[in-house]
Amino acid sequence: MIAMVHGFDDSSAAAHRLARELGVGCRPIALHRFPDGESLVRVQPSSGTAIVYRTLDHPNEKLVDLFLAASALRDGGARTIILVAPYLAYMRQDIAFAPGEAVSQKVIGRLIAAHFDGLITVDPHLHRTRDLCNVVPGIDALAVSAADTIATMLRADVTPDTVLIGPDSESRLWVASVAASLGLEMLVGEKRRLGDREVELAIPDIARVRGRPAILVDDLISSGATLLRCAGLLRAAGAVRIEAVATHCLAGLHDLAALTHGGIARIRSTDTVAGPTACGPIAPALAQALRQFPAAHDVRTCA
Ligand code: R5P
Repeated sequence: MIAMVHGFDDSSAAAHRLARELGVGCRPIALHRFPDGESLVRVQPSSGTAIVYRTLDHPNEKLVDLFLAASALRDGGARTIILVAPYLAYMRQDIAFAPGEAVSQKVIGRLIAAHFDGLITVDPHLHRTRDLCNVVPGIDALAVSAADTIATMLRADVTPDTVLIGPDSESRLWVASVAASLGLEMLVGEKRRLGDREVELAIPDIARVRGRPAILVDDLISSGATLLRCAGLLRAAGAVRIEAVATHCLAGLHDLAALTHGGIARIRSTDTVAGPTACGPIAPALAQALRQFPAAHDVRTCA
């Protein structure tokens, strides 16, 4: 039995990159959308470990397709089915912030656990739920860190006087790891979200950026509001050049243009989500995780 990567059209290039890293084959998952919006999913048979690759930006339709693909792979004889979702959606709503709200993290996590035997993702936005295993009860789960990938992206051209900035306490983990690996100074902001595109932010000791380059480091660029607010503060504090780097960039072209207009000279992200900022290859880190993954027995034997 041999492992195989299965990729949807929208993640095909990334699925092939992972398959190459693992030294296994990559098969397409065919998707037909009926006129009424329903999906027909067709997979190719897989007898060993089936690695289903799909990143979950714009998740609503993608999730249904994924569950259909997992079911078809199981019916076709796959022994173990692992979901590799480099960006894992619905992780931010981990409690009901107001009465009547669904706890999306719990709902989506349980659905994934019901269809897959394992989950690998990158820097999931776990805040109050510390452990990814608690999100997908009963299956193996691994959160890969993009910190090394980000450090490699920055290493080529970062100068020693650069200050790394984490916009909020949740980003401390990423910024501390990248700063330690590059030997750079770091600052961490304090953020309060007021709405989808409205944040209140302060950066203690921000005066330290005067006359120095600053790079914002975060797990996620969504609307871009967080980075835009940070950039304004850094400009006012006298930073000479402002850049941003994130694990996942979900922002559309309009929001990216607003960030450029707001003074961010360069925006980079890993390629967990395809787009104009995606330049840090995450496939090597995913392949390494898969080789150590308890559920993926036959991956270890591949080249
Ligand atoms: C929040 O805690 C995250 O780390 C990001 O800072 C946040 O999700 C970014 O969202 P936006 O780009 O919409 O401000």
